[in-house]
Amino acid sequence: MTKEAVTITDHRTGESYDIDLVDGALPAIALRQIKTPDDDFGLMTYDPAFSNTASCKSTITYIDGDKGILEYRGYPIEELAEKSSFLEVVHLLLHGELPSDDELAQLAGTVGENMAVDESMKKFFDGFLEDAHPMGMLISSLACLATYYPDAKNVNDPENRLQQIHRLVSKVPTLSAYAFRRNAGLSYLDPDPTQSFAANFLRLVFADDDGSYTQNPVLERVMDVLFTLHADHEQNCSTSAMRGVGSSYSDPYSSLAAAAAALYGPLHGGANEAVLRMLNEIGDKDNIPGFIEQVKDKDSKIRLMGFGHRVYKNYDPRAKIIKKLAYEVFEVQGMNPLLDIALELERIALEDNYFVDRKLYPNVDFYSGLIYQSMGFPTPMFPVLFAIGRTSGWLSQWNECLDDKDQRIARPRQLYQGSPKRSYDK
Ligand code: ACO
Repeated sequence: MTKEAVTITDHRTGESYDIDLVDGALPAIALRQIKTPDDDFGLMTYDPAFSNTASCKSTITYIDGDKGILEYRGYPIEELAEKSSFLEVVHLLLHGELPSDDELAQLAGTVGENMAVDESMKKFFDGFLEDAHPMGMLISSLACLATYYPDAKNVNDPENRLQQIHRLVSKVPTLSAYAFRRNAGLSYLDPDPTQSFAANFLRLVFADDDGSYTQNPVLERVMDVLFTLHADHEQNCSTSAMRGVGSSYSDPYSSLAAAAAALYGPLHGGANEAVLRMLNEIGDKDNIPGFIEQVKDKDSKIRLMGFGHRVYKNYDPRAKIIKKLAYEVFEVQGMNPLLDIALELERIALEDNYFVDRKLYPNVDFYSGLIYQSMGFPTPMFPVLFAIGRTSGWLSQWNECLDDKDQRIARPRQLYQGSPKRSYDK
């Protein structure tokens, strides 16, 4: 049988080291034995942005970036988007299996009971400027929520963790809707536990101050599928933030605030907002070739937003599903005039060697903004919508991390490049 090991030869000393692989990967800590001289620290790996480092073992999400495959707990994203509800996906991510009918009903009941936030949170939202970015409001309100649940610090108790997870999955849509209503100058409605997860959120956002809102089943279903598509994506920037902060045993509200902060950036969940801005700036199909030239000019620092991905070197499977969903929304809400620009931009980019050579394809954010806009969400709400779905993934990953005996507080090393020791003589 082949030995699952590699041999490393240190040409500085001529010594060779057999290193056993762990699940097919090189355990970085084994490199420490490679020393010269004997009392040095030992060899480290240098991997800025963790491009080739597995930071954990996980059983939650599988991605094959070359083939464009995404699976939650083994289920292809296409099947989940077509057949399951978001709450089923929440259960799946958290517990590893699809729920039975009873388990699903129980989860829906628990979510219904937990959706409301304390009345004083409404005052907290009133404290923001009316034009505050809703993502800033969501991040702050998550950190604020930690102060209501001091028991959440007990992160080593799995039952307590589950309770906080249920609270967060249920309350994040409510906080998100309140951020929207603060911007819109509307009063903060109380959730309606009798409605589905997506319907409840849409009502909390769009209802008049008296609570009246007519649900459209197509939009309700699309919202639910969008939450599913965003639910998890293995060790991305925000999930790594969640795991990293959580590894110090911070409470999940504070850790989730950190994850949401990471998502806010335009290279991550803020990209859907940037796509819409970009499409508006292009303004007309005739301007696309000029824009593409700007993107290809390295000095311009302009990127084709919604294109490219660290892991996918193929069409992002979520983008394919979202493109189809977009047409369902446009049938209800009318055509989004920016769609033509997006389609033409995609067509031109996919034929251009710059994008072909670098394997840059549309990612999840390229078409999601068009849907959100057509549904009536203002651009700054886009990353907030992403965060609602991703909350389930962040919390499942956090939960897994805390149960993982291999994990300790996250603490990378560095290669110090600064001045050697010197004395304070000016
Ligand atoms: N437009 C133009 N060029 C791009 C783009 C883009 N969107 N993305 C990557 N490139 C180019 C880079 O300039 C680089 O070219 P070079 O090799 O000539 O220097 C090459 O492709 C590789 O790019 P990197 O930045 O090294 O790729 P990385 O994996 O670090 O970045 C990222 C991935 C951040 C997603 C990047 O593709 C990007 O900025 N895309 C636009 C923002 C975006 O859509 N983000 C959403 C990602 S999905 C999500 O987070 C939900």
